[in-house]
Amino acid sequence: MKQINEIILPIKCDLDNFEIELKKIINNSQNFLMQDLENFLFKNPKRLRPIFVFLFSKILEIDSENVLKIALATEIIHNASLLHDDVIDEEEYRRNTETFYKKFGSKIAILEGDFLLSLALEILSKTNNQITLIFAKRIKDTILGEIEQNINTNKIIDEEIYYRKTFNKTGSLFLAGLEALFALKEIDNKIKESLINFIKQYALAFQIKNDIDNFLNNKSDIKNGNYTLPVLYLCKANANINIDDLSNIKIDEFLKLSQEKIGEIRNKALNYIDSIEESIYKKTIIELCELTLRS
Ligand code: FPP
Ligand code: MG
Repeated sequence: MKQINEIILPIKCDLDNFEIELKKIINNSQNFLMQDLENFLFKNPKRLRPIFVFLFSKILEIDSENVLKIALATEIIHNASLLHDDVIDEEEYRRNTETFYKKFGSKIAILEGDFLLSLALEILSKTNNQITLIFAKRIKDTILGEIEQNINTNKIIDEEIYYRKTFNKTGSLFLAGLEALFALKEIDNKIKESLINFIKQYALAFQIKNDIDNFLNNKSDIKNGNYTLPVLYLCKANANINIDDLSNIKIDEFLKLSQEKIGEIRNKALNYIDSIEESIYKKTIIELCELTLRS
């Protein structure tokens, strides 16, 4: 299977430029913890949101300075949300590095998240009102997803509620990047609909994969009472289960069910873009789905 660096070659120029601009923004930010912010933003990032912004912009043939700004805003807001998320989840490590929460405590971690959010607002203010409004709305949805997750801790929620909060907390920002592009050019409604449906399904599958990885490795979701898809499947089949002690439970079956769900959602996502004209960019999206959603 191709590695990510090979897959994204068709947009390498845009991504290289993105890295340069992002570094400039952080280095000019005059933040007291600039070096830590730089480490956080540049150490082993996936850059999935900007990657999709650039790929969609090629498919839609949008050539505008605002594309880079949209890509930067998605990545900076994503990182702001992670700084806050690590406080909420009391997470000590992210990408094998100490979190701001562990190193500086909750107050600084939250303030640094707020700072990144302000940097993104500054960038968005240089686009247009419509794009700024799209981001405001989708940031609200992201936060609502996180609120819904946190008011339901220690509860076995319905699968439908799990999908709703998952789409909100993870899908909203991916969607914001795409909707912002639609504000730059008149696009056929059918194409808009296909891409929106695609990215919604992709983000859902991506977060389920993240939840499975947490269930298998770190287990902080269980510790925090955030019962994700594998646990929901487990509880559906075993009504009297003790979630804090899964040592005697055969989890393979429930993992398999969750992984099959990812496959199902990924296929649905790919079906949605079936009607999009063939191109190297569409091929890149398909390869990206295969790489990032495989078990
Ligand atoms: C990761 O979830 C977190 C999110 C996808 C969104 C978090 C959103 C907030 C904390 C609301 C504040 C938002 C902004 C924009 C400031 P996860 O814990 O499942 O993933 P992880 O394993 O990467 O921690
Ligand atoms: Mg987290």
